Amino acid sequence: MPDLMQYPDRAVLATDLAELVADQLVEAIETRGKASLAVPGGTTPGPFLKALSTQDIAWEKVSVMLTDERFVPEDSARSNTRLLKETLLQGKAEAAMLVPMVASLARPSPRLRGEVRRGALQPEDVIPAFIEGVNPTLPLDVVVLGMGEDMHTASLFPEADKLAEALGDDAPTLLPMRAEGAGEPRITLTAPVLRGARYVHLLISGPAKLEALQKALLEGPEAEAPVRVILARDDTEIHYAE
Ligand code: 6PG
Repeated sequence: MPDLMQYPDRAVLATDLAELVADQLVEAIETRGKASLAVPGGTTPGPFLKALSTQDIAWEKVSVMLTDERFVPEDSARSNTRLLKETLLQGKAEAAMLVPMVASLARPSPRLRGEVRRGALQPEDVIPAFIEGVNPTLPLDVVVLGMGEDMHTASLFPEADKLAEALGDDAPTLLPMRAEGAGEPRITLTAPVLRGARYVHLLISGPAKLEALQKALLEGPEAEAPVRVILARDDTEIHYAE
């Protein structure tokens, strides 16, 4: 059963987890000369990502990517890439190498923006290029994941269209994902990539997520609670503050 670490508040969680992740990245750099890190988007990780950006490590040797992205232009308030650039990729950590998930959407032309809005450009069109960027960084040294109250992690949503494929041992590195609760189409790292990381952390806050976590820790199919993909590993560390 994974360890549940409870922190007195979200600020302490953010700084403690940032120090822990920084130590693990340093260990990777010392051992292999480089490190890879995947972090979640959404509303929870902002303070952690900001705290991590101040850590004094050889950021130019670190590849950073998202665990999943929403298929929106980067100037959308829902863009996880935008969150990453505004929080982690600042100060010392600006030197890190961003492995882009939706590179073509970074500075979208009006035409591209229109194509995304109309659905003429889809995740399937950009995924092959992104897989080429991610594969050389595998296995990931550190992955930090978030979780929704529906027990999804990354964009592995219960009931998502390609969930079964994404949970399989031979899933490709990334898959497009569409699900009712997801808002827009997503691009997500798949289960073998998440399971295969050297260090895995789950970052959650608030009593509703604690309750969802307790449900997910019970035995049952991964398809019902996709976060089980990482909870099945005893060495996953869960970081919680109310
Ligand atoms: C996203 C994610 C997702 C997130 C959870 C929790 O883009 O939505 O990366 O997996 O971690 O949905 O989101 P909150 O932190 O906003 O509750």
